[in-house]
This record gives sequence, C-alpha cells and structure tokens, in this order.
Amino acid sequence: MVQQSIDVVRLNLGCGSDVRPGWTNVDKFPADQSVVQADFPVLPFNNDAADEVLLSHVLEHFGFKDGETLCREIQRVLKPGGMAYIEVPDIAWCAAQFLGAPEPNMYTDVTNEYHTNHRWGLYSMSLWGDQHNDGLYHKWGYTAHRLCYLLQHVGFSKVDVNYGFSHGVQVLCANAYK
Ligand SMILES: C[S@@+](CC[C@H](N)C(=O)[O-])C[C@H]1O[C@@H](n2cnc3c(N)ncnc32)[C@H](O)[C@@H]1O
Repeated sequence: MVQQSIDVVRLNLGCGSDVRPGWTNVDKFPADQSVVQADFPVLPFNNDAADEVLLSHVLEHFGFKDGETLCREIQRVLKPGGMAYIEVPDIAWCAAQFLGAPEPNMYTDVTNEYHTNHRWGLYSMSLWGDQHNDGLYHKWGYTAHRLCYLLQHVGFSKVDVNYGFSHGVQVLCANAYK
C-alpha cells in the first residue's frame, strides 16, 4: 500500500532570528535566504492552509487596527481545528515595572541597554520596543482580557490565555483554535 505523506504546515510569522527547521519562517526583514519576506498584516497564504501558526513578540509591533487585521488573517489561513500560539508582553506588568523602577540621576542612552536597574532600559523597551529597525517599534499593548476578547472577536472558537516569562518580561501566552 502506498503511504500518502501528509504535510503539516507550520507558519512562524515575524520569526526574526528564530528561524525554525520544518517551519515556513516569515518576516518583513528576513534573517537569511530561507525566510519568506512579507509585510504584514495581510498574509500571503491561502485560506485554511496552515495547521499551526506561531506569532511570538510580533503583535505588539502593530497598531490596534492592523493588529486586529493580523489576528483575523491568522484565523483565515489556519485550517479548521488549527491552532495559533500568540505571545506578547503583558502590558500591565510592563507598565507596573516601569513605574516601580527608579529614575537615574542623569540622562542615559537607551540603545542596547537591556538592564533593569532603572526605568530607561528593558522596561522602557518592553513598552516602546528596542527600535533597532522599523519592525521593532511597539505600537500597542495587551492585557490578558484584551487579548482573549480580541481573538474571540476575530473568530477563534476557543481561546486560552496564560501568563509566562520570556524576553525578560512577563508575557501573555494565548492558544487560539479555529
Ligand atoms: C521582537 S521580534 C520577534 C522575533 C521572534 N518571533 C521572537 O519571538 O524572538 C519582532 C519581529 O516582527 C517583525 N515584523 C515587524 N513588523 C512586521 C511586518 N509589518 N511584517 C512582517 N514582520 C514584521 C520584525 O522584523 C521582527 O523580526
């Protein structure tokens, strides 16, 4: 009997340097030649094309309208039953850390300063992005409730949001099923 190979399609959207073997890695600024170049929020994939989508630390790089479009696009390209894993900084935690951290007693250069000694390091970058290129500005933020309601609003049938820690900050980890 001939075994039919069933290809699993996994999309790593906004992969940055996290280029994963076995995935279709996509970014506006490709890290290498294997990465598909695309400018979101519109996705260059057919309806019902993907089994799994990864969107890690990308959604906050879009304003609220384009962010909603991107989530709608992810729902569109997933197969029925497919899952999106979406991770974003927890904006409430980031804002609290920023407000709770001390002010330095002098002007400091933020570039490449990912420390947590005072406000103008990692905590400021977690709110506004590290701004190393046009794709690395944060344009919106999400709380657990807001992310959950957004994903339900664009049509996901089941959404779970949990807290985690990654990229130096508390994050929201959403599993959203089509
Ligand atoms: C903070 S990095 C996240 C990289 C990786 N996913 C991770 O978790 O470490 C955000 C990525 O989103 C990409 N990006 C930002 N705006 C984009 C756009 N309009 N279209 C496609 N990719 C974009 C950036 O180029 C960057 O690689």
